[in-house]
Amino acid sequence: MRREEKQRVLSILRKGWQNDESHDAGGIMRCPVSDYTCPELLAQEQRTFFRETPLLMGLSSDLQEPNSYWVDNASGVSILMVRDSEGAFRAFGNVCRHRGARVVPEGRGNALQFSCPFHAWTYNNHGNLIAINRERKFGSICKEEHSLIELPCEEKFGMLWVKPTPGGTVNVENCLGGMEDDMSHWDLTSKSHGASQVIPADANWKMAIDTFGENYHFDVLHRDSLSSEIKGNLQTHDIYGLNYRMVFARRNLLEAYESVESPNDLPFRLVTLCVYFIYPNTILLIDQYAVDILRIFPADNSTSKSNTHHSWYVFNDSKHYFEEGPHSYEERFVGFNSVIVNEDYNVASQSQAGAESEMYSHIVFGRNEPALHHYHNAHRIGLGRKELELETA
Ligand code: FES
Ligand SMILES: [Fe+2]
Repeated sequence: MRREEKQRVLSILRKGWQNDESHDAGGIMRCPVSDYTCPELLAQEQRTFFRETPLLMGLSSDLQEPNSYWVDNASGVSILMVRDSEGAFRAFGNVCRHRGARVVPEGRGNALQFSCPFHAWTYNNHGNLIAINRERKFGSICKEEHSLIELPCEEKFGMLWVKPTPGGTVNVENCLGGMEDDMSHWDLTSKSHGASQVIPADANWKMAIDTFGENYHFDVLHRDSLSSEIKGNLQTHDIYGLNYRMVFARRNLLEAYESVESPNDLPFRLVTLCVYFIYPNTILLIDQYAVDILRIFPADNSTSKSNTHHSWYVFNDSKHYFEEGPHSYEERFVGFNSVIVNEDYNVASQSQAGAESEMYSHIVFGRNEPALHHYHNAHRIGLGRKELELETA
């Protein structure tokens, strides 16, 4: 985020805190509970969001060096991502051209070539089929016509984006819809991959995303945890096409204002938490130590199950904190999960059960929950559905 933008955000937060005001959406929205329970809608979402839409996969440091690879199955399509020998980012369907087995198991590593576990056809990291086991016995085929299928992808601003189906291109600027400036200023290229985890939840994938969509709940659900660090009922509000950014204030914000001569001297990351929604399924958090990327997908083809693929990437100025102790990269998950799993996703599973109870037809997003208005209408726009209406009365 640019310096001037940081100043604008900080002054909104300061004023909002002093006046007990936050962004007002100007009305409420009612969302049908069937948005969380309808199998036909899920099928449409799977096709549109998780096959046809470019997805943020991670950051450049997920593929740290030439000849590194990362296989990710989160979207339901097995995707082989590589940084090839020349350092270029490439993505392929991880599907063998012989009989369709997964050529490379899920995970990360370094390799110049990949041998399929079924009959040992071998591909290089440009996706070319370079060897057919017992070729003379197998029969004659043109190797050039049996390369791995390349997927559209682009690496920009330190982000890795892939469209899970072949055809077309990925344009990261279009995907970010005006958020490019923020992303380039966070210098995501230089962040190191810390650790990754998968968090299952008994909640629709949008229900899981919703838990990152307001801080109205902080003083209640998180009264004994996050509330001591982040001020509830206070956020900024900025829309970037289908994406969204809100910034929360840390409890030390006003005190920090008092301690500096000019607001320009405020250490932005130490006094805020930035929450980005990156269409269609990603929450990106920026805090004091790290960039957290949470990619949220439907699980088991179920309307009531999701998996959150969480990776975190450490700022250079915070590396020593985790690499020289007292905390390891993985230990950070303990504190993170005590809030996200034990509190947010626990209550999200209750909300999911509530949606399935058929007790009522709609839930309500308040005028103090503007991000939820945005997330749900972004998804509706993506599917060509009618947007939820703002009820201003
Ligand atoms: S399916 Fe890959 S070699 Fe046969
Ligand atoms: Fe929460």
